[in-house]
Amino acid sequence: MAIPFQVAEVSVRSARAYDLPGLALLRESIGWGAGGLEGSFAAAAAGRQLILLAECRGRLVGGVTVSFQGAARGSLGRGHISDLLVAPLWRRRGIGGRLLQAAEEAIAARGVTDCTLDVDAHNEPALRLYLANGYRRWKPAQFPWGPGYTLRKCLDASRPPWSVPPARRATPWWRQLRWPGGTA
Ligand SMILES: CC(C)(COP(=O)(O)OP(=O)(O)OC[C@H]1O[C@@H](n2cnc3c(N)ncnc32)[C@H](O)[C@@H]1OP(=O)(O)O)[C@@H](O)C(=O)NCCC(=O)NCCS
Repeated sequence: MAIPFQVAEVSVRSARAYDLPGLALLRESIGWGAGGLEGSFAAAAAGRQLILLAECRGRLVGGVTVSFQGAARGSLGRGHISDLLVAPLWRRRGIGGRLLQAAEEAIAARGVTDCTLDVDAHNEPALRLYLANGYRRWKPAQFPWGPGYTLRKCLDASRPPWSVPPARRATPWWRQLRWPGGTA
């Protein structure tokens, strides 16, 4: 049975070191495991990642991680959202959307407008959530556990949502070679 609550009662905040056991329990409750969580908290403490948590009535009910990739040579790079989860009894009440929005705000706060996330091909709740929030398929992905997609969104409200370029047939590298005399 879902727990009755108002979305306004949910607050989103940055994780602190003492949240690690709680987030580990939350992950384990949905079968995700907590391996690597210490590394994530260390990366967050060093400012390379951001772990956001949703709380309602003092309970930890969800979380999401933001990392920044590919910033170099004047480029701000890309914000990557991962590990979005909501405790099962608290789902379908807007918490996943709140966490996604908070993650995007954290990315935009750094001046980064290019945002990506990975999703399993068969994860319909997550796919619906992301599509409803303006994410579009960028490229297929193969995870160790199965196929999926990397989705992408432009956070700059003055531009339309990321438009997916038309599918192009990959040309083998040897066909791209041009030999003197004209024939490939
Ligand atoms: C995906 C997940 C985070 C969504 O959290 P949530 O709090 O239920 O999401 P919201 O209530 O904000 O849902 C917003 C919208 O997403 C879509 N959605 C969410 N769950 C859905 C479901 N089970 N079936 C269909 N659509 C769903 C709907 O469009 C929904 O809007 P609506 O309720 O007005 O129809 C949650 O289901 C979850 O933790 N799943 C397990 C972990 C996971 O798969 N994470 C994603 C990793 S990529």
